[in-house]
Amino acid sequence: MAFDLRESILQAIGSNYELHAKHVNPQFARVLKTIGYDHVYVRAQGPYLWDDAGRQYLDFLSGYAVCNMGRNHPIIRKALADYLSLDFPSMVQFEAPLLSGMLASELKRRTNRPDDCVFFSNSGTEGIEAAIKFAKCATGRPGIIAAQKAFHGLTTGALSINGCESFTSGFGPHMPGARSIPFDDLRALRNELARGDVAAFIVEPIQGKGVNIPSPGYLVEAARLCRQQGALFVADEVQTGVGRTGSFLAIDQESVGGEGVNPDMIVMSKALSGGYVPVGAVLTRRSVWSKVFSSMDRAIVHSSTFHQGSLAMVAGLASLAVYDEERLDENARRMGEILLQGLDALRGRFEFIREVRGRGLMLAVEFGEPRSLSLKAGWKIVQAMDRNLFAQAVVIPLMADHRILCQVAGHNQAVVKLIPPLCISEADVAWFLRSFEEVMVRLHRFPGPAFDVLKRLGSNTIGSRERDIDGAIASVSGPSLVVPVNGPVNGPVNGPAIGQV
Ligand SMILES: Cc1ncc(COP(=O)(O)O)c(C=O)c1O
Repeated sequence: MAFDLRESILQAIGSNYELHAKHVNPQFARVLKTIGYDHVYVRAQGPYLWDDAGRQYLDFLSGYAVCNMGRNHPIIRKALADYLSLDFPSMVQFEAPLLSGMLASELKRRTNRPDDCVFFSNSGTEGIEAAIKFAKCATGRPGIIAAQKAFHGLTTGALSINGCESFTSGFGPHMPGARSIPFDDLRALRNELARGDVAAFIVEPIQGKGVNIPSPGYLVEAARLCRQQGALFVADEVQTGVGRTGSFLAIDQESVGGEGVNPDMIVMSKALSGGYVPVGAVLTRRSVWSKVFSSMDRAIVHSSTFHQGSLAMVAGLASLAVYDEERLDENARRMGEILLQGLDALRGRFEFIREVRGRGLMLAVEFGEPRSLSLKAGWKIVQAMDRNLFAQAVVIPLMADHRILCQVAGHNQAVVKLIPPLCISEADVAWFLRSFEEVMVRLHRFPGPAFDVLKRLGSNTIGSRERDIDGAIASVSGPSLVVPVNGPVNGPVNGPAIGQV
């Protein structure tokens, strides 16, 4: 019998959570059910998802900043289908694959790095592993510095420079030579570099966990200090790359007196995939590359079976074409500005909002202790239960009442993060702002129903913490949680039925 994918999916759909609980990740399935995120999505397009009842959702998470071009983009999908129809040879291994050469040259052109070589990986964390190895090999030094609160992935090397104990604990001892310094602190960097053993400083131009933006000039000066001390500067653009912050790379917006950051290596991934095929790229200065791949003997001294896979390269090429064609950098800047302004206006009205920050479509709303006495009491109760809880109380009703998918920005912080696809429209921004305002109105009534839910959430949290995944959902568990689903949703309800998978 021929395998019929469509039929197989149709038969299984609806059993998503049961299958996941039984065969994949029982704890995560439990978390999703507990917080009311256990929807069965059957279709996705652009910034929208539809569930099996035809309800439409607005995606302000983009698969963790993967779907910058929007989900199931027809041009990317067609490129992949075209490739499959060619019966082109892939993974011959003893050949020079055409498509990786094409994508590498495209990336170099866009980043204005004509002399680089590009190593392709299968993920962001693998790109970071490559950068760590290349830096150690090229400098002959053991030290890898990163910033506190950093996130560079969860494989062993990248985990050693992860700035969050929730991820690192239980997996030690970590890589020797790995150490961290405060983000945005040039003095700390200077002191570390002065030890003379540093191979590389690896840093996100804007930290994903918390959306922390460094001071103007920090990255340029950090790169200069590294050069001065013989250490390599590695920009982790896994999340910020491909237009997320309104320019192709986030470092493109950094310059001091005409001098840019000019990293020794740039790691990219996520959005290059077009939301379809995992891929990563490490743009590497040729002087570094030549020290690693120093002879024919060492021509594949770092590699992996699936790196530069053809489908991944096709997804990368097509994604870049869509990025240009649709001027997504421009749209990210424009929509980001409207969103930022709209949120900032709410900050004036709602005491819990401490700060709104971001660049392009990488935004965060940070909550803090309010001024008025009654709300202060509410804040203190919630904070005492769990430092993630307040942000949960925003994210959960955004989904339950307004069908918006977004995330808590990381562990132990009252920050909600917004990373929608770069193709969102003004109507989508309005959908979000209207919904966010309603959630704020409810949360600013203390005592009130929103706080009853918070208390229930908190009491379930204590003593039985669930691990979040990439900070999406933190510290929520317990069977008695009730998430209210009130009133009509703001977004249109016009999706397809299950048969349209
Ligand atoms: C800045 C940054 N670096 C590295 C990674 C790791 O990428 P991956 O999850 O593809 O391994 C991430 C993932 O979120 C990231 O945000």
